[in-house]
Amino acid sequence: MATAESSSSSLVPQRLLGKVALVTGGASGIGEAIVRLFHRHGAKVCFVDVQDELGRCLHEDLGGNDDSNTFYSHCDVTVEDDVRRAVDVTVSKFGTLDIMVNNAGISGTPSSDIRSVDVSEFEKVFNINVKAVFMGMKYAASVMIPNKQGSIISLASVGSVIGGIGPHHYISSKHAVLGLTRSVAAELGQYGIRVNCVSPYAVPTSLAFAHLHEEERTEDVITGFRQFTGKNANLQGVDLEVEDVANAVLFLASNEARYISGDNLLVDGGFSCVNHSLRVFR
Ligand SMILES: NC(=O)c1ccc[n+]([C@@H]2O[C@H](COP(=O)([O-])OP(=O)(O)OC[C@H]3O[C@@H](n4cnc5c(N)ncnc54)[C@H](O)[C@@H]3O)[C@@H](O)[C@H]2O)c1
Repeated sequence: MATAESSSSSLVPQRLLGKVALVTGGASGIGEAIVRLFHRHGAKVCFVDVQDELGRCLHEDLGGNDDSNTFYSHCDVTVEDDVRRAVDVTVSKFGTLDIMVNNAGISGTPSSDIRSVDVSEFEKVFNINVKAVFMGMKYAASVMIPNKQGSIISLASVGSVIGGIGPHHYISSKHAVLGLTRSVAAELGQYGIRVNCVSPYAVPTSLAFAHLHEEERTEDVITGFRQFTGKNANLQGVDLEVEDVANAVLFLASNEARYISGDNLLVDGGFSCVNHSLRVFR
């Protein structure tokens, strides 16, 4: 079984040397993997979250105050002043902002009956998954437009292109992230700013574990999760890891993606473009 770890090398060139990045929701899960990878690739990284204890631990793990290349700050991405401040802090700490990663997100309460979904739940998910992404784009653009360059990357999901794989609030919010990405790419292209999103299949993080059906749960949550998602995946023999998603974000952030904008990079092993219900090949 190939793993994300086994396919990476410690001798890779630093693809983000001299770049400054801001990552939201960077204290755990996919965001943490992005922070670690960007740091390894020479970027100066400011990361924000509401889980301050985890954020501070990660900052310490990456060298703390002895390594001036990372900075952790509290930020609730649903609060406009917090997002504005996160961008300001990044610029005052590291001089500019080249890469904005809108990663923070929630999946909301699992639900299989539209009649039982509270409108407040719908609003909560849209606040974090859509409104906050818009604000991240807006305040990043205010730094990037005068600089005439930048890369904005948001975490969408396979749920940005298909339905039926999660609650309505989550799936529609991720369709909206794709819509925002295309719309903002259309405006910011004239300034040389690229705007893209990344759409993973199921990744073992706390966000995804909450949606595992009761009957798929095993004592070891990761094993049960991998069995369920592996069985329903298109690509076999590979487990999707947070590092695989971080690698896709790194690609879009780097100069190797210099002509890619308005794109939705699916990290799903073909899940969303294959209809397995007829089982023609299985
Ligand atoms: N895990 C998956 O299977 C999966 C699949 C597709 C897309 N995604 C997307 O990837 C992104 C990261 O998800 P994850 O799986 O790493 O989840 P996670 O729960 O492990 O991490 C999300 C992070 O966002 C932070 N966060 C939540 N609300 C916040 C707020 N208001 N302000 C600031 N930070 C906040 C959390 O504290 C957490 O650290 C999300 O946008 C998610 O929708 C995840």
